[in-house]
Amino acid sequence: MRNIQDCFCKMTYWLLIIFTSLLGTDGWSDNRQRKFKDDFLFGAATSAYQVEGAWNIDGKSESIWDRYFHEHPEVVVDGRNGDVGSDSYHQYKRDVELLRELGVDFYRFSMSWNRILPTGFPNKINEKGIQYYDNLINELLKYNIEPVVTLFHFDLPQTLQDLGGWANPLCIEWFEEYARVVFDKYADKVKYWITVNQPNDICIESYESDRWPPAAESKGIGPYLCIKNVMLAHANVYRLYVNEYKNKYKGSVGISLAVNWLEPLNNKTENVEAVELYREFTLGLFINPIWSKEGDFPQVVKDIVAKRSKEQGFTKSRLPILSKQEIKLLKGSSDFLGINHYTTSLVSPSSDEFPSPSIADDVRVQLSKRSEWKIAKSPWLASAPYGIYKACIHINLKYDYPPVFITEHGWSTDVGLQDEDRAYNLREYMKAILLAIEDGTNLKGYTAWSLIDNVEWSAGTSERFGLYEVDFDSDDKTRTPRLSAHVYKRLIKTRVVEENWKPKSMKMKISDRKFKEPEPKAEL
Ligand code: BGC
Repeated sequence: MRNIQDCFCKMTYWLLIIFTSLLGTDGWSDNRQRKFKDDFLFGAATSAYQVEGAWNIDGKSESIWDRYFHEHPEVVVDGRNGDVGSDSYHQYKRDVELLRELGVDFYRFSMSWNRILPTGFPNKINEKGIQYYDNLINELLKYNIEPVVTLFHFDLPQTLQDLGGWANPLCIEWFEEYARVVFDKYADKVKYWITVNQPNDICIESYESDRWPPAAESKGIGPYLCIKNVMLAHANVYRLYVNEYKNKYKGSVGISLAVNWLEPLNNKTENVEAVELYREFTLGLFINPIWSKEGDFPQVVKDIVAKRSKEQGFTKSRLPILSKQEIKLLKGSSDFLGINHYTTSLVSPSSDEFPSPSIADDVRVQLSKRSEWKIAKSPWLASAPYGIYKACIHINLKYDYPPVFITEHGWSTDVGLQDEDRAYNLREYMKAILLAIEDGTNLKGYTAWSLIDNVEWSAGTSERFGLYEVDFDSDDKTRTPRLSAHVYKRLIKTRVVEENWKPKSMKMKISDRKFKEPEPKAEL
């Protein structure tokens, strides 16, 4: 019986691969106009470090990004770090006004752990920090905009990093303690929670490379320790909410994963296999424990890391094991899957020499882009709208149609209000999203990244992601709508993609979109 089941699973798996590769780059769309249903939700997003500023004001302590950018100012491309950022700490009312102008249903923002708990622990709760988020949430609710709160978007308190950060399993407990404080304060007002944003970046960028703090460069070891701990921390907080808050407050808790699309360089078997392998390392490690039937990390990743670890003289695999109890804790630990999707890459095997041990050496692939894809200001960001369609279909087929929110999608430009490229990218991806919904994706909502220009990590403010431009040299960090803000507003109102629509003026008013009372909520 087991064999028949295995055989069936493998068949479905290969059919899935054949199906998604047959979708090709052309012919995946037709020109019929499709419409977003009334219960589809639209929003915009930011994250604490990237917009708040006020890095040391009103009791906030240092996060790993504060420390890193203060010690290494040279890594910030244009020298603008998050000390002041877009100053949303002081400009939050204006931010809410922008959301009202757009007419969005929700605002996704993150809380800064060390603004709430300056020591990282609940021994000291910073009332001014609590008040800031309370003010923001109240301002949103006043205008019927749903707060969607991310508990952790990359900015760990430095105090906890000094104790090992996410590589220390105690971080699972620390995260739970922080989440409990947040739930106690805001669960009556916030109904949508995202535990962590992009655990792959938290672990791979921070522990495999020196590009992110703590720049620990514990290649091939640190990232795997971190992945296990972050995933368990997520699951624990999910269970905490379900056990102690859900009955009373009826909210939903999910996780946001980076789900960029990957496809083979060409149809050669070696490339198809390289894609599947790379997908398991970059997505499977995070999605499988929660959504696959068997739970656990993907078998192929476990096998490869175990094999390479043995060859390298380790006594056990560098990828830690999940116990039966941990697998159970993780399985099903999300009410929805948050997809952060920006781009598509081509994958093929690589014969380069990689440092050993390292994740790069474990997976041994290389990435590239098609020459015809338009590239944004950020060199990694290519526009390939069919990628979001394929990613959604892939997830449907492999993980049995989970409820999905696009929790981030966006485009970067230079300074300038006439952002035709962003508007074009938005329209084309929206068409692909409509098609994915038509083809069965259980998609509940879309989030534009970002509401405003902000600190794009080490790129500083040299890569602008905002629907609204921020004048970083002005005292009030003036926010001005770009063309794409008008296009998004129009789309939210009409619920269709209009190719040739242009605003009559660049002046923006509060949206006259009438919110039904109460606004329909996605059922999760
Ligand atoms: C991150 C954001 C970042 C955006 C653009 C996302 O993956 O969550 O913090 O600004 O990508 O790079």
